[in-house]
Amino acid sequence: MRRLFPVTDETVARPGGPAPDAGEVPDAGAAAGTGGGRSAAPGGGAVDREWTLEELAAAYAYPEPGPGGREPWLRANMVSTLDGAAQHEGRSQPISGAADMRIFGTLRGLADAVIVGAETVRQEGYRPAREREAFAALRKAAGQGPAPAIAVVSASLELDFSWPLFTSPLVPTLLLTGAAAAPDRVAAAEKAGARVVIAGDGMGVDPARAVRALADLGLTRLLTEGGPRLLGQLVAAGVLDELCLTISPMLTAGDAQRIAGGPSVTVPKRFALVSLLEEEGYLFGRYRRA
Ligand SMILES: NC(=O)c1ccc[n+]([C@@H]2O[C@H](COP(=O)([O-])OP(=O)(O)OC[C@H]3O[C@@H](n4cnc5c(N)ncnc54)[C@H](OP(=O)(O)O)[C@@H]3O)[C@@H](O)[C@H]2O)c1
Repeated sequence: MRRLFPVTDETVARPGGPAPDAGEVPDAGAAAGTGGGRSAAPGGGAVDREWTLEELAAAYAYPEPGPGGREPWLRANMVSTLDGAAQHEGRSQPISGAADMRIFGTLRGLADAVIVGAETVRQEGYRPAREREAFAALRKAAGQGPAPAIAVVSASLELDFSWPLFTSPLVPTLLLTGAAAAPDRVAAAEKAGARVVIAGDGMGVDPARAVRALADLGLTRLLTEGGPRLLGQLVAAGVLDELCLTISPMLTAGDAQRIAGGPSVTVPKRFALVSLLEEEGYLFGRYRRA
């Protein structure tokens, strides 16, 4: 059953108005429809129609540049079960679903770079982002390359540099690390084709410095796909602008990580709901820093 969920974004200006039809791109944030997605008319009944990837891309567009140019904008995309698990048996795939993967692909299609923790790369066997026909024109018009760069955050650089992620990406994979990273690992990464970016004085990466370093490379539309240990640091450092959170209609019990880990922040960070989509019981919330 499809339902209409409340949307708090001020851009939703048509309660009771028509659902977007096939030729109409929904307003950014006017997403009282479904992510995968079937759409539901704001204030009205469900409409049995899938949103195209173009429509989803419009709904999830990054903020327009200000008068001073484009500022970095960091959004996270994470999936959680009803009981807060961010993985099952070490991976997020078992708690994801088709509509979630459409949102995942859309968010990648819009990003300049995807920031990801080394443990997620190792556990999920990360591959390079691929070029998607559906986003090709959009990316070209936005001055973006064919696919986002993957930016791996690692202190140890204990990664398998023979992986396609490093040897054959469409755009070179970035490695964000500290100035004290082991020189032999740095050399191995560079030999494989990765671009090493120093974003910390010691072994580790300073989250705010990482965002600035990527912006200095012209990469301002930033997406992080976690994992929880990395996301916790981005939250604590106050550099996360937006969270795209999939609530998966599953319960797993156990002791899985939540979507953000590490030490808790002193004062909870407040986020505001921008839009909420639904398909097959999966909820796709988009929250912006309040
Ligand atoms: N539900 C979801 O949406 C979702 C998303 C992503 C991942 N996951 C799941 O989360 C699990 C992995 O996440 P995780 O939290 O254990 O690990 P993670 O955040 O992906 O990666 C942690 C690693 O990143 C590096 N790192 C993190 N912060 C750093 C810093 N400040 N400076 C330098 N390096 C830093 C370190 O790598 P080195 O050890 O190389 O130094 C660290 O061991 C997997 O099970 C995955 O499936 C779920």
